[in-house]
Amino acid sequence: MPKTRHDPLTLGLHWLIALLILGAYATSELAQGRGGPGTNLHGSLGLAVFGLSLIRILWRGFAPHPTPVPMGAWMARAARLAHVALYATMLLAPLLGLAALWARGTEMSFLGLVALPSPMTPDRAFSRTLKGLHELASNALVLLALLHAAAAIFHQYVLRDGLLERMIPRRR
Ligand code: HEM
Ligand code: HEM
Repeated sequence: MPKTRHDPLTLGLHWLIALLILGAYATSELAQGRGGPGTNLHGSLGLAVFGLSLIRILWRGFAPHPTPVPMGAWMARAARLAHVALYATMLLAPLLGLAALWARGTEMSFLGLVALPSPMTPDRAFSRTLKGLHELASNALVLLALLHAAAAIFHQYVLRDGLLERMIPRRR
């Protein structure tokens, strides 16, 4: 029988990371200023995205892959490109955020539990550049995720190829 679903770990990581990205985006205004609890909340959500994305990418190498949904060559290529771009921005956006903070000389605290002091020499101009790149990467990530969600919905309800079901827990 063909395997038609992603494994539970892939599924759990996919939706947890999606929620954390939404959370990081929603709290980004709180990161303004000179560090503090708002920055640490925003940064902790973002660092969780980074860590879980690393696990997701590593696990992808071992996970049993479901049989691909049949689709044209150009569509398969577009999907692969979008997935690579998603993975890249899932790692890059948080790294640039942390670098922007560190270049300001600000310490980051992960959930108030782990202190991540800056290893960088403070440089305001460099920090501003990194902040701009962080915003760019973050906006690209959210835009890609929206396009990706629209594509998944298009597959499920217009092409009716069952793609979305592969990422949804089985109902009993
Ligand atoms: C997926 C993860 C992340 C997303 C989607 C995200 C998104 C954003 C966005 C959209 C902004 C611009 C806010 C504005 O000016 O209106 C921002 C600012 C910022 N983020 Fe993130 N971020 C993420 C991860 C992180 C991480 C991991 C850190 C640090 C550890 C961080 C630190 C900051 C800082 C310092 C600012 C600038 C605040 C200022 O204006 O001074 N971000 N983030
Ligand atoms: C921030 C939000 C999201 C991010 C970062 C994200 C990211 C990803 C990534 C990286 C993949 C893996 C592709 C691969 O390795 O082959 C994936 C698969 C998938 N995503 Fe998302 N996703 C998000 C939200 C959504 C939403 C809202 C939906 C549904 C409306 C969705 C539906 C799917 C489906 C169905 C797959 C499996 C595709 C297949 O089996 O070939 N995702 N997602």
